[in-house]
Amino acid sequence: MAKLSLFTLLGLGLTLFKDHESSFQTRSNAFREVKPVELPKCNLVKGIETGSEDLEILPNGLALISSGLKYPGIKSFAPNKPGKILLMDLNEADPAVVELNITGSAFDLSSFNPHGISTFTDEDNTVYLLVVNHPDVKTTVECFKFQKEEKSLLHLKTIRHKLLPNLNDIVAVGPEHFYGTNDHYFIDPFLKSWELYLGLALSYVVYYSPDEVKVVADGFDFANGINISPDGKYVYITELLAHKIHVYEKHANWTLTSLKSLVTDTLVDNISVDPVTGDLWVGCHPNGKRLFSYDPKNPPGSEVLQIQNILTEEPKVTVAYAENGTVLQGSSAASVYKGKLLIGTVYQKALYCEL
Ligand SMILES: *[C@@H]1O[C@H](CO)[C@@H](O)[C@H](O)[C@H]1NC(C)=O
Ligand SMILES: *[C@@H]1O[C@H](CO)[C@@H](O)[C@H](O)[C@H]1NC(C)=O
Ligand SMILES: *[C@@H]1O[C@H](CO)[C@@H](O)[C@H](O)[C@H]1NC(C)=O
Ligand SMILES: *[C@@H]1O[C@H](CO)[C@@H](O)[C@H](O)[C@H]1NC(C)=O
Repeated sequence: MAKLSLFTLLGLGLTLFKDHESSFQTRSNAFREVKPVELPKCNLVKGIETGSEDLEILPNGLALISSGLKYPGIKSFAPNKPGKILLMDLNEADPAVVELNITGSAFDLSSFNPHGISTFTDEDNTVYLLVVNHPDVKTTVECFKFQKEEKSLLHLKTIRHKLLPNLNDIVAVGPEHFYGTNDHYFIDPFLKSWELYLGLALSYVVYYSPDEVKVVADGFDFANGINISPDGKYVYITELLAHKIHVYEKHANWTLTSLKSLVTDTLVDNISVDPVTGDLWVGCHPNGKRLFSYDPKNPPGSEVLQIQNILTEEPKVTVAYAENGTVLQGSSAASVYKGKLLIGTVYQKALYCEL
């Protein structure tokens, strides 16, 4: 009897494990191969070899890029070097990148580990750059003033809060005000990996301001990218392992109400919004399993989706670029400027293409 129940338990355990394993494989798109979609003229960006996880292109064509992310379980080609913020001027014919100098007394450069970034421009045209930072695997948000002429960032403030345990991406709505996605609920690395593996969908989105901090959306299977429509009325959130892009209505009190979701067949990472057309450009991981367990012989590919008319009954989803990882691995962000597409990756290169 005792033996039987032990076997029964073992069997039950194995079945549960198999269910979760197969669910994780589905959620991470383990077996999807990439059908290539090429663009006419693409060049790798000189000077980016260790990631361009997030990027933002300002209306004047200056792109700010976060590079050198160290994220548990994800490859890094510079594991012992601090991360940096790069500047690229897309008005140049053959733009290269320069590293922005970071100034300000209290900031520890040696542990800088930038992840999602976002800018806010105030009425005096001062540009603030907000950066999700993971010094020693923790989460802070660093607020900088972008000094264009000096090519530098002046550090203003570090934000820490218990509702910001695992920030991934943020969208700035003020100099120290933002919406941010926590990609995990737990802080403990062991619980974190089980949370992801079992698909507990505990990840949540927070509104932060110096006066008020609150959870505005929850129940995500890895909330990842976040952005706002050009008119400021809608917030877009990607749910990486559910392959979904959610549209929320934003209220004057900063709360969000869910309007609709768009299901894709890829792991949707960061979202950029074309300020003119309102189109969404989404950096995606066609095969998440290869991203989470890196093998140089079988690297993750890259994929960029363009989504038109997301608010209508029939949004149009186009694969703008797709590649199997021979050129570009792990695309996480993509943004357009004057007929060109800049694609960033979690830990590898960046690609600049004509559309
Ligand atoms: C950054 O600062 C260093 C030392 O202060 C200086 O030599 C360098 O030129 C600066 N870089 C830029 C891009 O301004
Ligand atoms: C925020 O505003 C929305 C829309 O006006 C309203 O439905 C909601 O009750 C408000 N929430 C709070 C907490 O005030
Ligand atoms: C990623 O998301 C942040 C916040 O929404 C945004 O500021 C940044 O520009 C995005 N990256 C790209 C490539 O759009
Ligand atoms: C990826 O695509 C390239 C070019 O189409 C091809 O040469 C290569 O064999 C492919 N690699 C894999 C792993 O499929």
